[in-house]
Amino acid sequence: MKQEIDTLLQETIERLATIDNAKDVDRLRIDVLGRKGTLSHLFKKLGESPDEERPVLGKILNETRVRLESAFEEAKSRTTSISAHLTALDISLPGRLPHLGHLHPITLVSMEIAEIFQRLGFEVVEGPDVELDYYNFEALNIPKDHPARDMQDTFYVTDNIVLRTHTSPIQVRVMEKQPPPVRIIAPGKAYRCDSDVTHTPMFHQVEGLMVDKDVSFGDLKGVLTVFVHQMFGADVDLRFRPSFFPFTEPSAEVDIQCVMCRGEGCRVCSETGWLEILGSGMVDPEVFKMVGYDPEEVSGYAFGMGIERIAMLKYGINDLRLFFDNDLRFLEQF
Ligand code: FA5
Ligand code: MG
Repeated sequence: MKQEIDTLLQETIERLATIDNAKDVDRLRIDVLGRKGTLSHLFKKLGESPDEERPVLGKILNETRVRLESAFEEAKSRTTSISAHLTALDISLPGRLPHLGHLHPITLVSMEIAEIFQRLGFEVVEGPDVELDYYNFEALNIPKDHPARDMQDTFYVTDNIVLRTHTSPIQVRVMEKQPPPVRIIAPGKAYRCDSDVTHTPMFHQVEGLMVDKDVSFGDLKGVLTVFVHQMFGADVDLRFRPSFFPFTEPSAEVDIQCVMCRGEGCRVCSETGWLEILGSGMVDPEVFKMVGYDPEEVSGYAFGMGIERIAMLKYGINDLRLFFDNDLRFLEQF
């Protein structure tokens, strides 16, 4: 009888190992552990066995039942968990990739501008967004109550502290700290009380400054021409248009041929064929005096370009506010 019990245990475990569905596990369980199953049958035979063997055989039978029950339990959970997964999951589908973030188009364009000027030997520097009136205006030859202050609608923090309205204060901070020569660009945010299709209250500029002996307007034209050709392609034309800034003299704004219509005239360029991308000029002697440079010894040029404007042209976008609506359907295209 001991032989029969061992065989039952071994065969059942072997058969369970080959079963892969819960139904067959249940069927076998009834055959083995059910009321009319093989194990019950063996318990009945126990009554017919000799008195002296009965306690030992009874113990073995009980142990066997426990082991069988746990074997069935295990087989059941193995088969039910797999089948549950198989109905909920199509294992032939490709896996779900983690969602990767990416750089904002303004950041991309800003990095591209920085790279072009770095190749020309410019060093990248930064300055504070919250700025003293002195650096944002006065040191740039814009005294208090000067009409030139109306060129920019300023956010005042206190009477003496503003959100910088342009990146030009960085020019002053750099020149204050180091003697000439200087060759820097400074990307960053600027703030003005402004909002329409081509203006947002917060926007980005890249400031450029070059100071040395005998720097000329020709150098400024050369550097900006190289920049425009590297950014937009060698076949895009640019023009220097006379302008005014209190901190440069003479001053010029630079227009590039509209990249949408190639100068034909369209909605983006208001039918003119040209688009303004930056302000520039030769550093005004008054600014040099404020930072302790001798205007008889050195000369220099400066420029400040709007990064959004350049990104609009680069990517063919006709509303600047799209950059800051944080709509992923828009941002994911870059
Ligand atoms: C300036 O801000 C001067 N600091 C530029 C400069 C630097 C001149 C160095 C000379 C020497 P302006 O206000 O024109 O100039 O602004 C420069 C560029 O910033 C504009 O051509 C435009 O592209 C961008 N810009 C100005 N205001 C906004 C705004 N509200 N939203 C988006 N872009 C703007
Ligand atoms: Mg302007």
